[in-house]
Amino acid sequence: MDLKDYVASIPGFPKEGIIFRDVTPMLQNAEAFKESVKQISDFAKDLNIDVVAGPEARGFLFGCPVAIELGAGFVPVRKPGKLPREVVSKSYDLEYGSNEIQMHKDAIKKGDRVLVVDDLLATGGTVEAAIDLIEEMGGIVAGVAFVIELKDLKAADRLKAKGYNVCSLLSY
Ligand code: PRP
Ligand code: ADE
Repeated sequence: MDLKDYVASIPGFPKEGIIFRDVTPMLQNAEAFKESVKQISDFAKDLNIDVVAGPEARGFLFGCPVAIELGAGFVPVRKPGKLPREVVSKSYDLEYGSNEIQMHKDAIKKGDRVLVVDDLLATGGTVEAAIDLIEEMGGIVAGVAFVIELKDLKAADRLKAKGYNVCSLLSY
């Protein structure tokens, strides 16, 4: 099975100049969804993962089944104002403006081995902010996995240069 057959590419969404890589066909197809979760879980199976962290919203979709497959817990990395208890926050710059993500302060215990899972790696801003929060809480980022990597933006190279174990199933 070629998982690329289950990614829809939409030029001009959400704005001109962007080709949106849409994973909803992969989620919709039972075999493709199962295969994507299996491939990420295979990457992580020997990493002794305690907790999977998934950024809102598409990171939840792949992160949760991977966590179950690995026998690990799941923690959400959320947009501001969504988590009800004490949070840690990180702002990061986008091409224009900035974004912020939050995690519950007790989401990661010192020494926890964490796998970050998201559908797509673009600039790397989201995942790097998540990594910063996890490490501030004393977690060890044992792996970082994506269904899709946008190669030209070179974020995976930057993560690998910092020593992170990075997996992407598909490249564009
Ligand atoms: C997308 C995607 C990643 C992030 C990648 O999420 O799911 O989380 O952008 O971009 P980056 O590498 O440049 O940070 P988005 O913020 O669009 O939110 P959504 O999942 O709620 O659609
Ligand atoms: N998030 C950031 N860039 C994206 C893209 N090109 N397609 C889908 N999600 C994205």
